[in-house]
Amino acid sequence: MPCTGRERRDTMRLVFIGPPGVGKGTQSERLVRHLGIIHLSTGEMLRIACAEQTELGKQADRYMDSGELVPDELMLNLVTDRLMAEDCKRGYLLDGFPRTLGQAETLDQILGSRGTPLDLVLELTADADELIRRLAARGRKDDQPEIVRRRLEEYERQTAPLSEYYSRRNLLRTVDGQGTPDEVFQRVKAVIDKDRVAL
Ligand code: AP5
Ligand code: MG
Repeated sequence: MPCTGRERRDTMRLVFIGPPGVGKGTQSERLVRHLGIIHLSTGEMLRIACAEQTELGKQADRYMDSGELVPDELMLNLVTDRLMAEDCKRGYLLDGFPRTLGQAETLDQILGSRGTPLDLVLELTADADELIRRLAARGRKDDQPEIVRRRLEEYERQTAPLSEYYSRRNLLRTVDGQGTPDEVFQRVKAVIDKDRVAL
């Protein structure tokens, strides 16, 4: 078949970043269905490890309960092993990872050495008041006001600098996360579909 330069990519390696409660999980579910790729939420992976009381779960528990980030070393072991699995070959959406510059740099090195770099990083945004309202209404164990405050601080201090890191690499696309989940998904889809043919 002649190459038109406008073919759709069948593989996508994506990252969702954004503060607690912005809708990463909600939009990830929709997006992986749309693209037919794997959803990897580090928060979910850690909650399962905690529930199963694995070695990782026992170590991660206290950080999660206080709203702090789990140390990079534990996170990198968890994620880099998972990315080697067969089901990731067609692409994946990382939700909540990387969350520190150290995680981002190591991820880049590992993916670069395998010749499978990230395609795009989607950043969802919303006002702090909206985030607090959403999390209060959900009521997960770490959604109590004091812990949410800590999670938001951790985001500002450790994760927000990733916007600039990925922006400099021309990978960042910022999407307004306010409105209904369907409205937000239309925006996410528009960004992805544009890059899917352009990449
Ligand atoms: P994690 O589980 O990833 O939590 P988080 O990123 O802090 O935030 P959430 O997952 O709660 O929010 P979300 O953006 O997914 O929003 P959601 O779609 O759920 O991490 C938990 C902990 O694990 C961390 O604190 C840390 O300790 C540890 N951890 C995880 N990854 C780590 C890493 N890489 N490094 C170190 N530590 C790590 O939506 C939230 C609510 O809002 C829901 O009720 C939803 O129904 C509702 N909602 C969603 N969209 C909308 C909308 N458009 N309008 C109204 N309501 C909406
Ligand atoms: Mg989530």
